[in-house]
Amino acid sequence: MCGIVGYVGKQQAAPILLQGLSKLEYRGYDSAGVAVFDGDGIVVEKCKGRLKTLCDKLDDGNSLKGTLGIGHTRWATHGEPSDINSHPHMSDKGRIAVVHNGIIENYLKIKEYLIQKGYVFVSETDTEVIAHLADYYYSGDILDTVIKVINKLEGSYALGIICKDNPDEFIAVRKDSPLIIGLSEDGNFAASDIPAVLPYTRRIYLLEDKEIVRVRRDEVVVCNTDREVVQKEVFEVDWNVDAAEKGGYEHFMFKEIMEQPRALRDTVNPRIRDGKIVLDGISIKGKDVENIDNIYIVACGSAYHVGVVGKYIIEKLSRIHVEVDLASEFRYRTPLITDKTLLIVISQSGETADTIAALREGKRRGARVLSVVNVVGSTIARESDDLIYTWAGPEIAVATTKAYSTQLSVMYLLAGYFAQEKGLVSGEQTAEYIRILQKLPSLAEKVLENKEDIQYFASLHYNSKDVFFIGRGVDYAVSLEGSLKLKEISYIHSEAYAAGELKHGTISLIEEGTLVVALATQEALFDKMISNIKEVKARGAVVLALAVEGNTAIEQVADSVIYLPKCEDLIAPSLAVLPLQLFAYYISVIRACDVDKPRNLAKSVTVE
Ligand code: G6P
Repeated sequence: MCGIVGYVGKQQAAPILLQGLSKLEYRGYDSAGVAVFDGDGIVVEKCKGRLKTLCDKLDDGNSLKGTLGIGHTRWATHGEPSDINSHPHMSDKGRIAVVHNGIIENYLKIKEYLIQKGYVFVSETDTEVIAHLADYYYSGDILDTVIKVINKLEGSYALGIICKDNPDEFIAVRKDSPLIIGLSEDGNFAASDIPAVLPYTRRIYLLEDKEIVRVRRDEVVVCNTDREVVQKEVFEVDWNVDAAEKGGYEHFMFKEIMEQPRALRDTVNPRIRDGKIVLDGISIKGKDVENIDNIYIVACGSAYHVGVVGKYIIEKLSRIHVEVDLASEFRYRTPLITDKTLLIVISQSGETADTIAALREGKRRGARVLSVVNVVGSTIARESDDLIYTWAGPEIAVATTKAYSTQLSVMYLLAGYFAQEKGLVSGEQTAEYIRILQKLPSLAEKVLENKEDIQYFASLHYNSKDVFFIGRGVDYAVSLEGSLKLKEISYIHSEAYAAGELKHGTISLIEEGTLVVALATQEALFDKMISNIKEVKARGAVVLALAVEGNTAIEQVADSVIYLPKCEDLIAPSLAVLPLQLFAYYISVIRACDVDKPRNLAKSVTVE
């Protein structure tokens, strides 16, 4: 899950590469490096640590001269973060330099072969084999060489390659890892994601697997592995560079939390027309929906948690059986898929390796695939039969917030849509449902207005050793997300439990002073939650409860209460997650953690 960038043009390359990498750090940030052609040969500068270390070393790129270069920000897979393992990697004799995002699965075999041929390896990475293999095949024609190399590689890659003999071009190619080409008058770019090139251009090529691109200052040629030229359409990015900037906020995460009402509006409103839910990107209608007898939702991380809420609401409203699976599990089991199965794939990036594999596995078994994706033109978006975009805008903080919320709003849209298409609801019921959904953004605004209360609770509990999140029904599903948010950015151990399940073992971990965050937003389950809160209180827990305004009975059992504005049970998850995001955020800030780039993580997980 690294970030790569390449540039050739009229400007000095190094400052542009470093600037581009700064927009890709969310993909990995344990080391960074650049390779620039300086007129005589390829100069590589790289080091362990954040990009800032490299920027300081290179005077923000000003100390490296040259107008052609490639750069990399790393999330270690093969070999610990170290100067040597950082990219770019060079071939023997310094002829070819490579940056790579992905994993080369057969690298050991290639490595052994190359060692026999006399190549000397200096790093523990899989990537180094690409540099040496390119040198081994080098025929004087770099395009031909790259084609030979990728024909030998198994696994996933997005590559940027420069060759000393070609001082005016670099080669870019991808398979199962994202890569875009940026086109501008002053030069051309390759990058793992659009924000890296957005300060320079909005004109993009989205690449397909194994398209090989020769990128020159005033020309970009895309071809296939038979060297046939492929004509690409220019994709115009329609969002602003500011959308991927902090805009005065201290952290991206906080900015993105506060953007949620807007993101919810943008995702929901265009899908409501003439008193109906209209989903333009999907072609399953009426009878097709009636025909679905089983839905699998597959995703990873927070997107999986969205799926868990989705199961509750889709089953409740549309009466279709739903199973939720972690993509990494789904891909290796034998799911029962028939031609009546719908596979719903949820992914912010649209590039998560396990989710892509699950999608392909589902398709192979005959399922129809409907995906919910934030990044336009991403792999999952392109490989799905039906597609619903979340309009969250670029999300930069590693811990997702607005992508989660918009994905959840799509679950509401889908559940309502299925019910509508199956004829399970009257026009009046649909109108009422739509009214509830359209209230969401303003209710979310209300919740966020109370951020200082959450900040106060964070100041009381930032030193907790363990935190338990409990809830029933959809509250349990939201607990999963609240717990993940807290642990990933504050490094406090936390677990989420279905409140009724706690007593089957985990309650033994509750002791004097343990913090339990209890979600009790569901009217029908409120009394049950009161009992569960009493159970943990009896073992010494300190309880911070989340309830809907008016349910003041909770104050008799909980130590403190966060109230959500009055809302229907069904949409409470969309509101309940907001204080939990803020709670995790403020605790992370108080503990002086790196909020936007928590340790060991990356936002886009493009390796298995
Ligand atoms: C990573 C991110 C999570 C995200 C998950 C799935 O682990 O840190 O925030 O939920 O990947 O990513 P996706 O892009 O598929 O939603």
